[in-house]
Amino acid sequence: MHQKRIGVLTSGGDCPGLNAVLHGVVSAATTRGFEVLGFFDGYEGLLNPVRYQRLDAVSVAHISHLGGTILGTTNRGRFVAKVGAGKKSLIPREILQQARETYLGLGLHALVCIGGDGSLSTSLQLQQAGVNVVGVPKTIDNDILATASTFGFDSAISCVVDSLDRLHTTARSHKRIMVVETMGRHAGWIALHGGLAGAADVILIPEIPFHFSRIADFAKERTSSGLPSTMIVVAEGAHPAKGRISTLKNTPQVPGEVRLGGIGDSVAREIEKRTGQESRHVVLGHLQRGGNPTALDRILGTRFGVGAVELITKKKFGHMVSYQNYEIGGVPIAQAVARIRTVPPKGQLVQTAREIGICFGD
Ligand code: F6P
Repeated sequence: MHQKRIGVLTSGGDCPGLNAVLHGVVSAATTRGFEVLGFFDGYEGLLNPVRYQRLDAVSVAHISHLGGTILGTTNRGRFVAKVGAGKKSLIPREILQQARETYLGLGLHALVCIGGDGSLSTSLQLQQAGVNVVGVPKTIDNDILATASTFGFDSAISCVVDSLDRLHTTARSHKRIMVVETMGRHAGWIALHGGLAGAADVILIPEIPFHFSRIADFAKERTSSGLPSTMIVVAEGAHPAKGRISTLKNTPQVPGEVRLGGIGDSVAREIEKRTGQESRHVVLGHLQRGGNPTALDRILGTRFGVGAVELITKKKFGHMVSYQNYEIGGVPIAQAVARIRTVPPKGQLVQTAREIGICFGD
């Protein structure tokens, strides 16, 4: 009997836990009698010259603990379906058709697309072009709707917390203000969770525009009450109430796309000017995406991988795996990419942070 084939690819920015998903997909699929083809560099591997590798138990053995992705990935290229702050962009018809031809030519039954908001939007366009897709939500930013969490987020927070632990000691010794810029794009989850766990004094997130005067007054009060240092965590997408999001000046490789960054530097300079206290800033950048996944992300990634194969078995195409109430289920991808999931400014987590004296600068 002809063995059924499925494809799998990793797309968008890399994220700790991707290899655990691949391990889950390949193991569960092989057990169910599927052959698995892994496409290289995201959706790009579907285009001529088509690039893929057959994945079996040997190729995915002992990879779950490793960061990055054995298949490679890209958040650029010809399949960009969302730009800027989530503006939809249509992938050219001929690109979608080429990808479909590869899918049909290789006799694939389904394609598992592991990616964030943009990559999942791409998968929907492929689904509409006639490819059976199943999605796996991936992002360190934790900003995908319809799932309580994504793998990679916990690893990113661990990096923030580890950095804060180190920065507290030097800030305190030098009686300085330390500003730590985190990733997250237009959502403040990494800054909020990382800041809470890492004993930040001030947390600035995109969802709560801030005032420099409030932060400066807060830091001065700390000094007067005998606290030598102040730790500020700022999300890359945070901005002053009367100001814009900071972007990096280099030319974007995708038209309409911007690279966020620079707010940590601005906050450190402005607060030093207003308080007279020496300030430094640190940009954590891709350290948050690199390295090996935490235990939690390895488990969530594995569960997502197995869940994706279950969705294929149930013919739930156009769906993605989701994590709700400690269980893995499936939701329509369209529901998950309708908009990004941001921090509710009046939500319990922000309230908890306020209760323990954290300042949001508002
Ligand atoms: O979406 C994940 C993310 O890490 C964001 O937090 C960050 O703004 C962006 O990707 C950075 O992407 P790049 O790899 O293009 O620098």
